[in-house]
Amino acid sequence: MDLRQKNSSDSSGGGGMMSTADLFEFETRLPDDHVRDLGNKLIGFKARYERLRDDLRLMVDSVGVAAWSQQFYQQTLPVCDTLKDRYPLVIFHGDVGTGKTATAEAVTDALVREMGAPHARLFKLSTRVRGGTGVGVTSFFLNKAFTALMREAGNDKYSFLVLDEADSLAATRNTLWSHHEDKVGVNTLIQKIDDLRRFEGRIMVILCTNRIQVIDPAIMRRALRIEYFERPNDAERRELLEKELAGIGLSEEHMKELVALTGPDESRKRIGLTFSDLRTRLLPEAIALAFPDRKITGDDLIQVAKQIQPTPTMIASRPQEQ
Ligand SMILES: Nc1ncnc2c1ncn2[C@@H]1O[C@H](COP(=O)(O)OP(=O)(O)OP(=O)(O)O)[C@@H](O)[C@H]1O
Ligand SMILES: [Mg+2]
Repeated sequence: MDLRQKNSSDSSGGGGMMSTADLFEFETRLPDDHVRDLGNKLIGFKARYERLRDDLRLMVDSVGVAAWSQQFYQQTLPVCDTLKDRYPLVIFHGDVGTGKTATAEAVTDALVREMGAPHARLFKLSTRVRGGTGVGVTSFFLNKAFTALMREAGNDKYSFLVLDEADSLAATRNTLWSHHEDKVGVNTLIQKIDDLRRFEGRIMVILCTNRIQVIDPAIMRRALRIEYFERPNDAERRELLEKELAGIGLSEEHMKELVALTGPDESRKRIGLTFSDLRTRLLPEAIALAFPDRKITGDDLIQVAKQIQPTPTMIASRPQEQ
């Protein structure tokens, strides 16, 4: 991800010398136009955000919920307190390159803008805070990261933490082969998520994974929302291709063929391309055929689409959606 990267002088990787600044891959104040633009580039972002928003706002906007209760009932309803029992955890899962990371970031920005929250921050946990050598290292850094997060969340401040590629932090403790260190890390994560409830929605965690099947059941049950991401369907691939290929004058026949070629092909047992396959492989490879001597043709795109191999799936079979 190309958001402001943290500079780090520590190259020991997950080991003992990590400072607080190294706990986060990046942190930024929200709203942030760069984060918003991430969402604007995603096909289907607006629709997904609108589906997610109501759940998230109920969690995050406890002030708004209290005001709503006063406005319509002239009192704070008991159910407003029940809402506070929920855990501020959302899980994004699904296949590789389907927009989980980008959506997790962009959703926080959209939410903050919509609430008009004056002070909010987005943190992304560094991938270095895991797999440390020695018992308790992951736990130690998770503790430090959450302490830093909680410190930020003073009055009226909102903090969002993205735990990306979280399988290693949240993998089930129940397998014979799970390493003792990982088990300790999961216990710490569960405990921290429990602790966050006292912030009444001012701290929210979004956990992203493409291996939902390994996530510990205790983490799963705490999620207030589990959101599934898929490879693009025909309409989504068309939308992306039309957007990206605007101005090159592609014929409708070529577009139709391109949409078909980039999708799943049951007869050949081939899965479709991911969003990132389309954007970062198909399109650049087609441009490479034309650049620098001539325009891109429909045939260039078709030729690349026929050759390109979709990124192998991480999904064994489609999971049950909530
Ligand atoms: N809905 C989408 N619309 C357009 N482009 C998308 C979409 N989703 C993903 N992409 C493209 O794919 C790239 C990768 O997205 P992202 O990193 O968010 O995927 P991911 O699901 O987190 O993948 P991984 O499981 O590999 O971490 C994005 O930078 C973007 O170019
Ligand atoms: Mg990702």
